Amino acid sequence: MKARISGLGHALGEQETHNHYFVDLGLETSDEWITERTGIKSRYIASEETSTSDLATKAAQHCIQNASIDKSNIDLIIVATSTPDYLSFPSTACLVQEKLKLGPIGAFDLSAACSGFSFALSTARSFIESNMYKNILVIGADCLSKITNFEDRGTCILFADGAGAALVTQTVEGETGGIIDSSLHSDGSKAELLMIPKGGSKYPLNTSITDEKSHYITMDGKGVFKSAISIVIPAIKSMLNKHNLNINDLSYLVCHQANKRILDKIANSIGLDKDKLVVNVTKYGNTSAATIPIALSELNEEKKLQKGDLILLAGFGAGFTWGLNLIEWS
Ligand SMILES: CC(C)(COP(=O)(O)OP(=O)(O)OC[C@H]1O[C@@H](n2cnc3c(N)ncnc32)[C@H](O)[C@@H]1OP(=O)(O)O)[C@@H](O)C(=O)NCCC(=O)NCCS
Repeated sequence: MKARISGLGHALGEQETHNHYFVDLGLETSDEWITERTGIKSRYIASEETSTSDLATKAAQHCIQNASIDKSNIDLIIVATSTPDYLSFPSTACLVQEKLKLGPIGAFDLSAACSGFSFALSTARSFIESNMYKNILVIGADCLSKITNFEDRGTCILFADGAGAALVTQTVEGETGGIIDSSLHSDGSKAELLMIPKGGSKYPLNTSITDEKSHYITMDGKGVFKSAISIVIPAIKSMLNKHNLNINDLSYLVCHQANKRILDKIANSIGLDKDKLVVNVTKYGNTSAATIPIALSELNEEKKLQKGDLILLAGFGAGFTWGLNLIEWS
């Protein structure tokens, strides 16, 4: 028995925001700088009232419709997020369960930052291959704008809000394709490259923390850039080698959308055709755990996914974490 993706959906923050927004905020930046260094031209920011569970629920509804499944057949919900509605509990997955009006099935959050969807998809695959569940809703959802310091030009131009959902279903006898392999990795020695320094159990929130704004994202941009490239390229090569695949065998490489320069460097270094590299960071920015399922959902909507296509998903992000899933589309 294998696990396959049988439906996809996505949702974005309400407000389309162009680069000049940051200039208007009074930051010393420009559309030219942001475009040249990141490739990003716009991103979608959630309204004040919208939280991660709202976007996750919208993406899930879109996914359920796309999969044409009776929602009572869903056995489990996994939400990968770093921006839960509430600090610690209740989980965002429980809120999504209630908003979707699903029965008392299991629902939990998973935290692996921007690699979250890769980790959640692998987790769902294991539940399905072990025959514990048949239909799992896997959602990557984040409202990074809610944890971003809009006075920090080094981070606020990158991050945005969105959600992507995939229904992961057990294959039936004789059915080919599905999730072929997964590999998950972490390196906690790189934890400080990208973090929210304070406001957690080590430094519980107080007014001096909010005054110094250390409850927002801090990032060593260059360090993250270098780590992402040096980690993801060998991981992709190793996955391809393990399955005796050539780069030309891939139909698409769907990497975490952090920066167009990172995507281009990865593609150049492995010799991937430009048209097989999926890029939407230019219009959506970095929506963390949501980037990969949003990109897949868009490919699906554009009818670009064909039965038999080999697709490699590669997530990477804070932790440092990185995770890959090799899929034969079915
Ligand atoms: C953040 C990032 C775009 C910065 O680009 P960079 O070329 O590395 O730029 P640097 O950090 O070296 O900064 C160069 C200069 O630009 C400035 N700068 C930073 N952000 C700027 C902005 N938005 N506009 C204008 N100038 C900016 C810096 O302050 C620095 O100025 P200085 O030389 O006077 O000190 C880039 O490092 C990056 O994308 N890293 C990866 C981040 C990422 O993907 N994070 C998520 C991973 S999941």
